Amino acid sequence: MKSIGIFYGSSSGNTETVAKQIQKGLGADAQVFEVSKAKKEDLEKFDNLILGTSTWGFGDLQDDFEGFMSQIEAANLSGKTVALFGCGDQESYSDTFVNGMGQVWQALQNKGCKIVGQTSTDGYSFSASDAVVDDKFVGLAIDENNQSDMTDERIAAWVETLKSSLS
Ligand SMILES: Cc1cc2nc3c(=O)[nH]c(=O)nc-3n(C[C@H](O)[C@H](O)[C@H](O)COP(=O)(O)O)c2cc1C
Repeated sequence: MKSIGIFYGSSSGNTETVAKQIQKGLGADAQVFEVSKAKKEDLEKFDNLILGTSTWGFGDLQDDFEGFMSQIEAANLSGKTVALFGCGDQESYSDTFVNGMGQVWQALQNKGCKIVGQTSTDGYSFSASDAVVDDKFVGLAIDENNQSDMTDERIAAWVETLKSSLS
């Protein structure tokens, strides 16, 4: 596998913890960046990108990730393989569950990258999510508020699929 950069935005630490677990699962070659300290040149260094944000407000991107969107827009991501993950709360925010991940997916359209790592919505209960496209999540959805007991298992299964879908 070629190089992997994991970029996350996290306000209360959940997405950060998930990012580090993904790194651990993928092995030492994966580098982790907190997005407020990252630039478009950091994104461009890697063949594979894994981008993670939580969702705040009502369906808004996490603050630091919001600021990072201009770097994603400016970056040349052509030919890269990208996987997405997001943290949210399906009970309290059932209409906007992990919408932030959907916004990142939207920003990657027409960037010339290949998006991998879509997951089933089975096992979640929510009304609406911008992160669901063609009946699947566009990436890995984690709910530490209501289903923290499933987090390790979900991450492990996702990382296994990434091992064969990252380039
Ligand atoms: C004020 C507030 C607003 C939130 N809004 C949403 C939301 O719209 N959609 C969602 O899925 N989760 C929402 N959440 C849940 C967070 O995304 C969730 O707690 C997440 O794990 C936080 O991750 P972080 O610590 O990495 O920022 C909200 C939480 C709070 C406290």
